[in-house]
Amino acid sequence: MLKGAGLGLRREMLPSLLPDLPTEVDFWEVAPENWIPMGGRFKKQLEMCTRQATFTTHGLSLSIGSSDALDEKFVRDVGRFLDTHGIAMYSEHLSFCSGQGHMYDLLPVPFTEEAINHVASRIKRVQDILERRLVVENVSYYLTTDNALTELEFTLGVLEEADCDLLLDVNNLYVNSINHNYDAETFLNALPSHRIVYGHVAGHFDETDTLKVDTHGSDVIEPVWALLEKAYERHGVFPTLLERDFNIPPIEILLSEVQRIKDIQSKVVTDSQRTSA
Ligand SMILES: [Fe+2]
Repeated sequence: MLKGAGLGLRREMLPSLLPDLPTEVDFWEVAPENWIPMGGRFKKQLEMCTRQATFTTHGLSLSIGSSDALDEKFVRDVGRFLDTHGIAMYSEHLSFCSGQGHMYDLLPVPFTEEAINHVASRIKRVQDILERRLVVENVSYYLTTDNALTELEFTLGVLEEADCDLLLDVNNLYVNSINHNYDAETFLNALPSHRIVYGHVAGHFDETDTLKVDTHGSDVIEPVWALLEKAYERHGVFPTLLERDFNIPPIEILLSEVQRIKDIQSKVVTDSQRTSA
């Protein structure tokens, strides 16, 4: 089980982290496809990490929304990776990244009933192969097609139809709410608390006042921290991970943001205990 505050682990961070992972981080996250092909030194280093701390996975290439056939061999490879490293959870983006070839980008699925049924049936197949619940993440997106449903209706529909879990990315919610002009708190409040198994926070890039780009390349901004606090107040405190993929600062800076997650979690727990006393 995940708890507390986590940090994404990238290969380039290993030299500054090993042999002993910092104990301030309660759990770590890796993209399985970045590690499955690795042997030798990197494999040994990952084993050293997964033996001493709790890990979760966040995939990049499952392409759960694609109209291409589901890559079941890849899903089985992920299952072996999870078993090898004793990792319970596999999360992925509620998006697609392939269509007659890999696109190396995470694109939004059309918000339609047909897509809900399509995605849900693929999620169920993944869950059957892995014998685990799949955790899907609300993604940032920058284009929309002729959608019959809203992003919220689509997300709720997939969660219900597939009976899967949610990775709530608070930064993605913030970015989407500005880019697509909707109220982040209304979206947040409508989510089913019991399906939220963990969360993400990250920094983004301000292209303009009405265009935010989810880059994971800068510090988390105050409105995103505030939205995380609101998410805890609404749904109860859930484990939350800091994503940082570019412009990676020294580990001390990352740990200070991990500590900020813990501080918000403690504050919300204390406030709720005070209210119920
Ligand atoms: Fe995320």
